Parts: sequence; structure tokens; C-alpha cells
Amino acid sequence: MELPFAESWKIKMVEPLRKSTREEREQWIKEADYNLFQLKSDQVYIDCLTDSGTGAMSDRQWAAMMMGDESYAGSASFFQLKETITKITGFEYVIPTHQGRAAENVLFSHLVKAGAIVPGNSHFDTTKGHIESRKAFAVDCTVDEAKDTQLEVPFKGNVDPKKLEAVLAEKAELVPFIIVTVTNNTAGGQPVSMQNLREVRAIADKYGKRVIFDSARFVENAYFIRTREEGYADKTIKEICAEMFSYADGMTMSSKKDGLVNMGGFIATRHEDWYEGAKKFCIPFEGFLTYGGMNGRDMAALAVGLDENTELETIETRIRQVQYLAAKLDEYGIPYQRPVGGHAIFVDADKVLDQIPKEEFPAQTLAIELYIEAGVRGCEIGYILADRDPVTRENRFGGLDLLRLCIARRVYTNNHMDVIAAALKNVYDRRHEITRGVKIVWETELMRHFTVKLERL
Ligand code: F0G
Repeated sequence: MELPFAESWKIKMVEPLRKSTREEREQWIKEADYNLFQLKSDQVYIDCLTDSGTGAMSDRQWAAMMMGDESYAGSASFFQLKETITKITGFEYVIPTHQGRAAENVLFSHLVKAGAIVPGNSHFDTTKGHIESRKAFAVDCTVDEAKDTQLEVPFKGNVDPKKLEAVLAEKAELVPFIIVTVTNNTAGGQPVSMQNLREVRAIADKYGKRVIFDSARFVENAYFIRTREEGYADKTIKEICAEMFSYADGMTMSSKKDGLVNMGGFIATRHEDWYEGAKKFCIPFEGFLTYGGMNGRDMAALAVGLDENTELETIETRIRQVQYLAAKLDEYGIPYQRPVGGHAIFVDADKVLDQIPKEEFPAQTLAIELYIEAGVRGCEIGYILADRDPVTRENRFGGLDLLRLCIARRVYTNNHMDVIAAALKNVYDRRHEITRGVKIVWETELMRHFTVKLERL
């Protein structure tokens, strides 16, 4: 008999979870104005809000923390981190920052001027925010396949080379760099193929442009290349990462994802001029160059986390758990962005609650129902998150309306996955009884989803 797949770790420390009753949850979510960001964490049983900074560190990472060097300048932990990053990416210049958006802020302060155009594949919210706040434009060049959640193609996160080339052919002089997000979070944690990274590199070279990888989930991307792209099955994850980064000029990183730590980020590049330019913004925004917003101990833990996560056993355990949950949803016929990506399930709420009009926010309604059903907290990646059009002030209903269920790294067991799946099935089975959604009673102009107040209709 073939042995089943099991986790590449065992558990040394546990954290109790609090279960609650349906009545309690109904009360709490009402007090939170039907906004899941406003819940207290102890009102949540299984938290799938995000995979960012929510993972569990290993014993080796905790041991490294005790060895952290808190020197203001020249910290040994910084050099440990820098060495690890250079080994994995080939990038020689490293600037630590307190998280991913801070890396964007520091590097883009040097690179993005008013009127610039930054093409990419579904720029993450903060990436887009740091471009648009500088009066520049983020142009989405993601492949069209990403919009059809039921289409089964292996690399739905790809950049469409034709769209990218069209931007460059017309406005190359306005493009400071191309940004490729690996994996593509907004499109559903979907990977980008090595072939596509090569194509982007070739187009960039043709127009004399540089390429940045938004690398928050680069290891998950490497795993998908290994398992889905021809010629990579026998390569190590570290070899695949090295090839991926060989097609880039630099990276911004949110270490809270594939760095396996709870806080942190960095910029890395092969170009001295980018490093010199970014340095000037790191010091006033983040701190001196050998800590940039991080504790010495946190840099030490990150160095170990990056090394550990780029080993096949670690990343395989992570992805296989997400795939385990997806297989349950397949069994129950629940529609999500297919094939499942690296860090989360993105349930297609428009298809589940198809009788709820867009104006009543189906994905948010589904998130509320799932929370009331079982205390599982997901996150709407849909019409509320899309904000209003800055000019017309109309809601933007053009994209997908998804319920994202993120899986924290090394935190929950497959029994928890079974609970999530069963809870979702119970909601799915009574979907025809859910005929009304929610309405907005208070909102801010930008990033309204964090603080929006809602009423149930
Ligand atoms: N890039 C990507 C692709 C991200 O997913 C995130 C964060 C960032 C950049 C910014 O990094 O949070 O460290 O400042 N994503 C989180 C999420 C918040 O829930 O998907 P950060």
C-alpha cells in the first residue's frame, strides 16, 4: 500500500482555539457592522482572513531569534539575511524594510515619477496604491484566462506578452520598469510560468527596460513550476528560484508570506544605481540600512525562514494542504478559481449566490454566512474591495466577486480544512434561501473594505 502524504513537521507548541455558538456569532458580526475586519480574533474559530504574517515559525527560527544581533549599524543578523537572499536570488544588494508595502514605498520613491506607466500582472492593492499616489498609472496586462474562474489552465497568473508589448510599443519612454507578481495574488494565487518570465525578460530587453518581481509568494510559484511546467520536475526549489530571479533586475518582498515570519520585508537588486537611489529613502522612512524597520532577531528568523521554505518538503506540505481543501470543495461542487492557487481558495460568490444582485455584494454576504455558520473568517476580494470609480463615484462591478479563504502556513491541520469545507457546504446547500445581501451604510473613499459599515437586507 502506498503511504499517504503527511506534513513535513510535527507540533511542539499549541495555541488554544475558542469555539462559539451561532447566537454569539450573530451578535458579534452585527456589532462589527457585518465587516469581518472588525471582529476580535477570539470571536473567530478558524481564521482565513489572510496568509500574511499569520504563519508558525519553526524551532530553528525561534532558536535563531535568541541569536539576533540588535546592533544599530552592521548587525550580524543583517549579514546573515543578506547572504541568504543573495544565495537564493543572486541579488547582491539588499535593503530590509518593515513589510512589503514599505519595500514598495522605498524603491518606488526612487523610480516612479508623476505620469509614469507601470505595466504588470494584477498589481497588488498596495503596489497599485504606491504607483497611483505618485500620480502614475498601473496597467494590468494579466492574461484574459484569469477572468474565467472555471477555466483549467496551469499558469493563470501570467503576463499577456501582447498586452505588455502594446504598452511598451506605444509609451516605452514613460515606463520606469515592469512588475511581475509571483504568484499573482489578485488573480487567485495563480502562478506565472518560467516560459512567461522568459518572455517578459525578452520584451523588457527589447525596449531596454528593467523588471521587478513582487515576490511575496515566490516559493509557491517555484513549486508550481516544478509540478506543472515541463523540464522542472527534477530540479530543486532553490534551482528553480535561482532561474526565476535570473530574469529579474530586482524584487520587492513581503516576508510575511513566503519568508515564514510574522513581520518584515526587503528590497533586493543586482543594480548598484537602484540600491544607491533606494538607500536615500530607506534611512528617513525605515531606518538605517542594516535594519530598515526590522529587529535583529527578526532578520535572523527570516534568514532561516527563507532557507527552510525553499526546501521541497516545506513548500510541498503547504501547497498540498491548500489542494486538500480544494479537493473537498470539488467533492461538494462548490465553484472557485480553478485550478487552486498557492495560498488560498477564491470561491466564486457570483456563481454561488447568483440570485443576489451585484448591488447587494454577494461575496461579502457569503463571507458573513460562512462566519455565522462556523466561525470561519474569510475575506471579500470583490465589489466592496474594488472601491468606487474615482471620477463617476459609481461602484466598480467590472471584476470578479470572490470570497478568499487563505490558509496560514503551518498553523491548521487537515481536520480544520474539513471543518472549513463542511461549513462552506452547509452554506452552499442552503444558498437558495439566501436571497438578500447587504447594503453600505458608511464608507471611506479609499480602501473602504477595512472599515466599511454594512447592514443586512
Ligand atoms: N504584494 C503582494 C502580492 C501581497 O499579497 C502583499 C500583501 C503585498 C505585496 C504587501 O505586503 O502586507 O507585507 O505590506 N498581501 C496581504 C494579503 C496583505 O492579505 O494578501 P505587506
